[in-house]
Amino acid sequence: MPGVEAEPDAACWERNAAFWIEMMRGGQDRYRAELTDLAVMRAIGEPAGQVILDAGCGEGYLSRELARLGAKTIGVDTSRTLIAAARASVATGDRMSFEVGDFRRLCELEIPVVDVVVANLSINDIADPTRAFEGFANALTPTGRLVMLMLHPCFYGTPAHSEAPTAGLETAEHTYFSTRRLVKHFEIAGRRSPSPSTRYVRPLARDLATLREAGFREITLTEPAPSPEQWADPWWRDYLRRPLFLLVEARPGGARRGVASAT
Ligand SMILES: C[S@@+](CC[C@H](N)C(=O)[O-])C[C@H]1O[C@@H](n2cnc3c(N)ncnc32)[C@H](O)[C@@H]1O
Repeated sequence: MPGVEAEPDAACWERNAAFWIEMMRGGQDRYRAELTDLAVMRAIGEPAGQVILDAGCGEGYLSRELARLGAKTIGVDTSRTLIAAARASVATGDRMSFEVGDFRRLCELEIPVVDVVVANLSINDIADPTRAFEGFANALTPTGRLVMLMLHPCFYGTPAHSEAPTAGLETAEHTYFSTRRLVKHFEIAGRRSPSPSTRYVRPLARDLATLREAGFREITLTEPAPSPEQWADPWWRDYLRRPLFLLVEARPGGARRGVASAT
């Protein structure tokens, strides 16, 4: 993958864990609290009775909400500190489990077949989603669904025509058509994460092709947008003029990698 350096280990998430836990549990991220969480929950539908894999679950807030609404959840994350925090937030008898693991190697974990895989802003942590998408497709029941919120590849960290590069997000060698490696601190509610975070943004057509090669079909895209009431708030006008998030929903169509498909 030209221009993209090797992925760092999970050490940056360990350094950012306390910050992340405080921000998520305090509802400090307005994008999530007021926009994207609603879009993700709407896409998941009625959680009661569903078995849901939370891939890259972080400290577990989404799993907790889904379990509160009646789902059985399995959270997987590479960060030991975040998984420890997630486990500590669970009461005995809750329908939640949290495992340290890599969602690109789900077959190494004892994950049951699930109705929904949700990947909430975790797929941009990895350079190549091929194995993750294959694992997600294999983990799902034939009628299951993938619900994946990702950074919008067309707008997030994209070199924009006649605009100056944004610090930390763009470098001269970046083009939309390459996998972009973005190194940037999280800035949430006026606070800055201790460590920069590395994320990868790929061209949209490439991610869609990778999903299809993994066997996903009926792929739909949604751009979560502020409501008319939210547009009245200057914060949204300042920070979300362009869609920064893309919600992907897909079904495992049965066809797997290398198998010809009519769709
Ligand atoms: C931006 S955070 C999102 C966390 C959580 N989904 C949320 O919305 O709060 C990305 C998470 O993905 C996890 N992650 C990154 N790569 C992973 C991988 N290959 N397997 C499992 N978890 C991973 C990170 O440790 C981190 O907790």
